[in-house]
Amino acid sequence: MKIEEVWKLLEQDLAEVERCIAGNLHSGAPLIRDVGLHLLRGGGKRIRPLLLLLAARVCGYRGDRHYLLASVIEYIHTASLLHDDVVDDAVIRRGQDAANRVFGNQASILVGDYLYSKALYLAVREENQEIMNVLSDATTVMSEGEVMQLSQIGNPDLTEEDYLGVITKKTAVLIAAACELGAILAEASPVLRKALVSFGNAVGIAFQLSDDALDYSAQEGRLGKKVGKDLQEGKVTLPLIHVLREGREDEKARIRRIFEAEKKSAEDLDFVFDCIEKYGAVAYTLQHTRACIEQAQRDLEPFEDSSAKDALLSVSDFISRRDL
Ligand code: IPE
Ligand code: IPE
Ligand code: MG
Ligand code: MG
Repeated sequence: MKIEEVWKLLEQDLAEVERCIAGNLHSGAPLIRDVGLHLLRGGGKRIRPLLLLLAARVCGYRGDRHYLLASVIEYIHTASLLHDDVVDDAVIRRGQDAANRVFGNQASILVGDYLYSKALYLAVREENQEIMNVLSDATTVMSEGEVMQLSQIGNPDLTEEDYLGVITKKTAVLIAAACELGAILAEASPVLRKALVSFGNAVGIAFQLSDDALDYSAQEGRLGKKVGKDLQEGKVTLPLIHVLREGREDEKARIRRIFEAEKKSAEDLDFVFDCIEKYGAVAYTLQHTRACIEQAQRDLEPFEDSSAKDALLSVSDFISRRDL
């Protein structure tokens, strides 16, 4: 199945999710709606809601609670983006001015808090302890991942293992949670539920790996955010870890100095970009992405053939090749 066919297959379901997303943003504080809608209407791929809907479907779910939960997951994701863009001092998000630039850091942080709280407020009303366990675990671990990442800013000694630990927490856990919620709603067997968690985790790691590869290689217009910002922020990701392993001693020494310094000149940035290119660091990262996706696809083996399974395979494939 092509990714366009997946969007088509779920068009109506995703429209329901959009209704939940917009419908629950009413509040006595109009700024909440302004900031929320700025980001939520700015686009976004809706990968997490899509995966939740498909996970429910592949387990044979027939109800209608997945729309609300998919919107809850998107609220949590959006809250994390609002906060992340303050921390990273982002300029562009989803192809438009980042909320922190339009409304300021304070509004972004407070509305991010609101979205986190609102997500849990809505989820609690489902009166399902398993759902709450998954969501509260995911939000806790995600925040932990972002804090761990902050502590590693400018650290050229970050190992591949530690990096994988951070991206699992900050990104993969929420994607795995989206998949697990689909299984919970469908009352899937423990085997199928576990398979979907493992699938979501691998897809999530692949998703962040490709994001980190795209940060060094994408076209800005298509990606909808600035390219090269990880380097500027001093964020050490797999492409850089690769160069710090493979480069010549003098190159590595210079990169370490650049990363440890507060300010980076245009010349410094060019030098690192040249090394990324010279050592095939983007290709190396994408190989890793592909391996995770292959594992994710193997995780789906316990499921019988269905259009939902085809769609999950297609989405995972899209993630390994995406340019947006
Ligand atoms: C961006 O997520 C943050 C990462 C985890 C890399 P997405 O790439 O899913 O962002 P949107 O929702 O499509 O804008
Ligand atoms: C992902 O990290 C952010 C979250 C999981 C909240 P990044 O900082 O790489 O995300 P982008 O590149 O800003 O979207
Ligand atoms: Mg960021
Ligand atoms: Mg990024």
